[in-house]
Amino acid sequence: MIFEWIIGASDFLAAILFILGLKRMSSPLTATSGIVTAGIGMLVAVLASFLYAFSVVPAARAHVPVNFALAVLALALGLGWAWWRGRSVAITAMPQMVALYNGMGGGAAAAIAAVELFGGRNHDLTLLGITALGALIGSVSLSGSVIAWAKLDGRINKPWRFKGQQVCNGLVFLIAVGLGLYLAIAPQGAERLPLVGIFFAAALLFGALMTVPIGGADMPVVISLYNAFTGLAVGLEGYVLQNPALMIAGMVVGSAGTLLTLLMAKAMNRSVSNVLFSNFGDVSIEQQGEIKGSLKPVEASDAAIAMRYAGKVIIAPGYGLAAAQAQQKLYEFVKLLQAAGVEVKFAMHPVAGRMPGHMDVLLAEAGVPYDLLEEIDEANEEFSTADVALVIGANDVVNPAARTNKSSPIYGMPILNVDQAHQIYVVKRGQGKGYAGIENELFYAENCNMVYGDAQAVLARMAQAVKDLAPSTGALPQAVPAVV
Ligand code: TAP
Repeated sequence: MIFEWIIGASDFLAAILFILGLKRMSSPLTATSGIVTAGIGMLVAVLASFLYAFSVVPAARAHVPVNFALAVLALALGLGWAWWRGRSVAITAMPQMVALYNGMGGGAAAAIAAVELFGGRNHDLTLLGITALGALIGSVSLSGSVIAWAKLDGRINKPWRFKGQQVCNGLVFLIAVGLGLYLAIAPQGAERLPLVGIFFAAALLFGALMTVPIGGADMPVVISLYNAFTGLAVGLEGYVLQNPALMIAGMVVGSAGTLLTLLMAKAMNRSVSNVLFSNFGDVSIEQQGEIKGSLKPVEASDAAIAMRYAGKVIIAPGYGLAAAQAQQKLYEFVKLLQAAGVEVKFAMHPVAGRMPGHMDVLLAEAGVPYDLLEEIDEANEEFSTADVALVIGANDVVNPAARTNKSSPIYGMPILNVDQAHQIYVVKRGQGKGYAGIENELFYAENCNMVYGDAQAVLARMAQAVKDLAPSTGALPQAVPAVV
């Protein structure tokens, strides 16, 4: 009896720790402790699952791990690999790592379902139906996440599209659903094995086929969607096993993943179906419209000196900051400006970069105090009072076409209104487009200058230019000198 009590209490504790952890992850200030809290919850849940072996309740004993040594070996291998990868992964490679881990969750749920579907102990029609549903969703999440990983990791470079793709995908899906239904009602026995195999092959194939046509840049939204799928699959299998910790963890992951998917799509002003089924990024010149004006390059040192004598500088970081790993150099430059009496703020766009909170993570890594960061609405109220807006490796999230050009693919997406600042400097390597694959009229604006180069190298030159200046007299700030 004591083991049942400990298992129940552990599941309850794990559930509370998951929810508390998730709550704490909602702010960069508490996120680290949130991850530790949720991690402890996971440890409690894993340890409690071993106690099933000692349980006297027959239903619980039915799921006893038959081989302790194998279970411990699998745990040790998984723990060791995850620990090593977690420590060594580059911040820019984080999305693909998340994709892989997420896929493994879906795969684990599908593996539980495979055991149940093939000669499982369950003969209840509803439970077998739920098992098959979890298997389908988990398998789609597994193969889809592996494709997402390959795309983000640069192993698959182009979306794969062919005529009749949707029909083909639909057929594979119908085969998987049909077989799933059949397996739920068909009698148990060895003859099920080939059908279970075909069912899983069709489900895995569908996940892969659904993901290959989607552009690499849309992968973060897709990963988040598969994360929701994984949660749902785990929750369903938890129900089949009557394991509360699995059910609650699955529900938490499923709902968090769904919310995140919707929030990301909303921040890009797109629907989830548009992400899944449209060829985003294939933009014609007509759609973009003609851009007037010219690009006006300046030296990094000139831009730096203008900022050194400004009263207020607002920085808009984007994907290029992460690609260049320039966060440390950026903060070094910011500290020099602050020491010279310049007020500096960071304008944070919710989908700047390639994953949720990408810029927050980068700036936190460099030690930028959280109170310098402003959410998009707060920052947008301030741009008109800024002497300089410094755009670093951002493109789409500062493109005014989102406000003005109805035919632009990003029309309606909330953007940072950097164009309202007195002077704008844009740091990027050349004329590369952003994620949406469109031109940016901001770069051609009268009050905008381009500072070309890798963000890390440019920021190093900017910092050096400020250091090379004589110490501040304290008489400034004043209006920014025109630099062209
Ligand atoms: P982007 O629009 O992708 O623009 C990034 C810019 O950085 C490029 O124009 C590139 O120009 C420049 N760049 C690249 N490497 C650089 C380097 N080493 N040094 C300096 N500049 C560099 O980025 P954004 O403004 O952050 O917008 C993010 C986009 O991703 C949005 O469209 C958003 O909808 C999308 N998205 C975001 C997410 C999440 S959750 N964050 C998820 C899915 C999609 P050069 O090549 O000329 O240097």
